[in-house]
Amino acid sequence: MKIIFATNNPNKLKEIRQALGGNFELLSLADIGFDGEIPETGRTLEANAMQKATYIFERFRQPVFADDTGLEVLCLNRAPGVDTAHYSGSRDPERNMEKLLNAMSGCADRSARFRTVIAFVTAERKEMFEGLVEGKIADSKRGDDGFGYDPVFIPENADKTFGEMTIEEKAKTNHRVRALSVFTDFLEKTF
Ligand code: IMP
Repeated sequence: MKIIFATNNPNKLKEIRQALGGNFELLSLADIGFDGEIPETGRTLEANAMQKATYIFERFRQPVFADDTGLEVLCLNRAPGVDTAHYSGSRDPERNMEKLLNAMSGCADRSARFRTVIAFVTAERKEMFEGLVEGKIADSKRGDDGFGYDPVFIPENADKTFGEMTIEEKAKTNHRVRALSVFTDFLEKTF
């Protein structure tokens, strides 16, 4: 079965190619010859993931999935949430983390979680899957491995931030890997 993943992010493609069994052929946006912009105007992770998957399905009429991830901080009413990628008005991780740490200067409770939503669309169905990692936001940045907010996020049952972990360590408690695993279980069982 051929499935389109509405992304061109090589790391994400690699992650899921490793997780998917041989029954599935994964196609990226580049593979299907799509190089346009996919609208992403939803105000929730669910709405955005579904919007992206539906947009591509309507053009290519092949099974497609899309993901969206947000960092949800309890004391900020679950912000930055859907605005995680461009929280500071830019996509610069340093500026995003600086804005987050400043916004949290009065927060006694530093609980936060990463949440990934995957939306899957075929002619017959629309499904949604979720992966979570609970944790907290560090008082300051630590470590410079990884990407995005890794240096300020400490996952549950760990002392290190994601930025201080190796790729293998991070993979064990990773929201995207968890969402992918629920999704790939569903695919293996259903098709
Ligand atoms: P996306 O939906 O996968 O593009 O993720 C949105 C934003 O969330 C990214 O631009 C990053 O800033 C942040 N993000 C997602 N996953 C991670 C992670 O594993 N570590 C740190 N930041 C992440």
